[in-house]
Amino acid sequence: MRRTLLIAALLTATPLLAHDGVKDPQVMARMDGMAAIGAATKTLGDMAKGQTPLHQAKARMARDTIVTQAGKISTLFEPEASDPKSEALPNIWTDWADFTAKGEALKAAAKGLDFTDQAALAASMRTLGGSCAACHKVYRK
Ligand code: HEC
Repeated sequence: MRRTLLIAALLTATPLLAHDGVKDPQVMARMDGMAAIGAATKTLGDMAKGQTPLHQAKARMARDTIVTQAGKISTLFEPEASDPKSEALPNIWTDWADFTAKGEALKAAAKGLDFTDQAALAASMRTLGGSCAACHKVYRK
């Protein structure tokens, strides 16, 4: 029961209407994956900043979401799909090995999240945030 509520809470945190007007289903799917990563990162960031209490089960679920979604990046981005609303840059597909390595780095950073206490979470979140920035800086508009 408690677990179901947590799942419901995480799903609600995903902005389902954020992609209005996206027509290409593949672009939609990869945006949804990133949006789930974004929502989970926000959950963890709020705990790291002390805006919400560090809740072990919620933190672990958010971590698992990031690990799972990071593992899907290479599959979701493999087709060179485009959409006027997409923020993906074309060098993703010319520098594919580097792009997917950055996806793996995200996964490793998520696996390395430390929930011991707020300080440990905040420190490990910096590595996680660095992995988002490393990819967005090069491959996102
Ligand atoms: C391997 C590269 C890569 C990594 C790592 C990565 N992203 Fe992204 N992200 C992208 C790309 C590319 C887009 C644009 C996708 C598009 O618009 O087609 C994007 C888009 C997004 C979006 C917008 C989704 C939407 O609603 O359109 C969010 C939010 C986001 N990323 C959050 C994150 C967060 C938070 C992290 C780290 C925890 C992260 N991303 C790590 C490549 C990455």
